[in-house]
Amino acid sequence: MNAINHPSLDPVVRKNLDFRLDEVPRFWFDNDPFKSRLFDALSLTFPDGERYFIQCVRLFQNQIEDPELANRVKVFIQQEAQHGISHDKMNKILINQGMPIEKYIRQVNQRFKHALKRYPNTFNIAITASCEHLTALMATTFFSEKSTMQGAHPFIRGLFAWHSIEEMEHRDVAYDVMVDVAKTSNVVRYTALILVTIMMFGFTMQRTHGLLKQDGFTRIERVKMFKEGLKWLLGQKGILTVKKQDYLDWFDPKFHPSQHPIIQQYQVWVDTLNTTQDPIVAGEAFWQAAH
Ligand SMILES: [Fe+2]
Ligand SMILES: [Fe+2]
Repeated sequence: MNAINHPSLDPVVRKNLDFRLDEVPRFWFDNDPFKSRLFDALSLTFPDGERYFIQCVRLFQNQIEDPELANRVKVFIQQEAQHGISHDKMNKILINQGMPIEKYIRQVNQRFKHALKRYPNTFNIAITASCEHLTALMATTFFSEKSTMQGAHPFIRGLFAWHSIEEMEHRDVAYDVMVDVAKTSNVVRYTALILVTIMMFGFTMQRTHGLLKQDGFTRIERVKMFKEGLKWLLGQKGILTVKKQDYLDWFDPKFHPSQHPIIQQYQVWVDTLNTTQDPIVAGEAFWQAAH
């Protein structure tokens, strides 16, 4: 693992970004039902997941003595709240398409409620920090190579670009709360990532399947889609396979998120948004600047 610590980015709250999601077609990713529904399935749990993360960091908010960390936590909460608002809009569109989103959200909320009630606070913050490890990895996975998001509709690609930027900006906030304030042990931290990985992957696959079924694809069609899709994700050169080492770095006792470099075209997004005030144009420039 790269032991050099890269300087943390300053998280910035950006509000009321419009991605014109209601103009996006149903199969918005390369006209490919599997890829489109996979991202829809991932996105549908974000709003409630992010509200759970907020609750977890709040468990420790009044114990934070370092004013800089206290401020980063405040911005983290505001950023996650904004992500929730935008992904809720995506959920409304899916509901209008007849997708069983409310049922899935109810299920996911039961899990979060259970976790907050039954697990110690030190484990809840470890779950949040683990999810943040995964979202920061997703951000670099989606936008390191231009080819990965090539077929995505520019409006949703813009939404994911903005979300990715902010996940990279606040990637170490929950981690620092977990280590510096909650004093969660490494064993608990490792356990949390294993649990979160199984749950997130399992639920995303199950919901992708459910959405495709609701779209009317037959069992044979769905099996074929999953075979191809899983190859795209986890095959020899799969988009997740190539990030395996970054994922495993978590299990180093001295791991810190800042040991991973920031995506090289980060500043392109920030500068383009500053000059155009248009998050879709910023997302486009960000994607174009990938390798
Ligand atoms: Fe987020
Ligand atoms: Fe996050």
